[in-house]
Order: sequence, then C-alpha cells, then structure tokens
Amino acid sequence: MTIDECRTRCLKCEACPLRAGCTQVVFDAGCPDAPIWLVGEAPGGSEDAQGVPFVGKSGQLLDRFLEAAGLSRNKNVYITNIVKCRPPQNRDPLPEEREACMVWLRRQFILLRPKIVVCLGRIAAQKLIRPDFSVTREHGHWEEKNGTLFTATWHPASLLRYPENKTASFGDYIEVRNKARLLCPDLFES
Ligand code: URA
Repeated sequence: MTIDECRTRCLKCEACPLRAGCTQVVFDAGCPDAPIWLVGEAPGGSEDAQGVPFVGKSGQLLDRFLEAAGLSRNKNVYITNIVKCRPPQNRDPLPEEREACMVWLRRQFILLRPKIVVCLGRIAAQKLIRPDFSVTREHGHWEEKNGTLFTATWHPASLLRYPENKTASFGDYIEVRNKARLLCPDLFES
C-alpha cells in the first residue's frame, strides 16, 4: 500500500461513531517523506471544514513556530492527528475512539517510518509515548522506540490559553530542529 492509497481508504472510514458527526475525515498535511512528524489530537472546526490538519488559530501558531525554527509543512515536516475525525464540540476523543483510529496512524507509521515524532499535547503524548506522560514535566525529553525518537511539547491550542508556556515550547521546536540536523543534515540544504 502507498500513503496515497492509505489516505484514500482512510477518507472512507466509518469504523467509529465520530464520522457520523463530522464533515469529513482529516488525514494529513505536509510532506509524507519528511523525517519529522507532528502528531496532534483530533481535527477542530477549521480542520473539519477544510479537510487539513492544523489550519485554525492553533495551526497558525504552529506554523509560526515551525518557520522560526527553520521547519515547515511545505519542506520538511509531516502533520497528522491521533484521531482523524472531529469529536463533537471539540471534546477530547474517547479512549475507544483513539484506539479505533490508531489503525491509520500505525499504517502511516509502517509506510513512512519517521525518524522523529513530536507529540503535540497530552492526548498524543499519552498515546504514543506513555499513558502517564506529563507534558509540563517531560516536554522536550527524548525517548527512542524501535529506531524512532519521540518527544512532546504543549498543544498549540493550550499555548493560546496559557501563553506563559510559549517560550519553553519554542525551545522544544529548536531542539527538534537541532536533532533533525544531526540525524538528517541533507534536510536543511536549500
Ligand atoms: N488540534 C489538533 O490536535 N489537531 C488539529 O488538526 C487541529 C487542532
């Protein structure tokens, strides 16, 4: 299977009740061959309307951080979510919804094999790193699993609510850029 075939199938998924309450499945954005992934929680209203992850207010903040760190969804980053359909009223996706949707993230993972995975917020970090992961205490730490490096930082939506964490979060993006430079120097040759 290619990532395009995987996307086509995912866009037709009705495996959990979330699909009935949203406009469309939101699969991915950015460069599928990028070594750096950013994984959020679930689409919000703007993402649900446009079919693209992180295009609302939090996505705009994310893009500003990426650009300031020398990263970009057009060049060297791939973006997706744990859950591909918008939960009603933007509530947290339920554990069973997260698990049902993981079939897609696992397939994306097998197909694309990222070198670095940045979890955006608690929901992604607790699913992909550890169930008791604390973003406040452990943001910016690195954990290796089967050859992929995982780290986490605050969800950009949380930074809009608690701007006092923006400086520390931006530092996490700088560390991601530095790690990517070490692992894949070619990525930054223009
Ligand atoms: N929040 C997320 O976690 N993902 C998106 O795509 C948008 C907002």
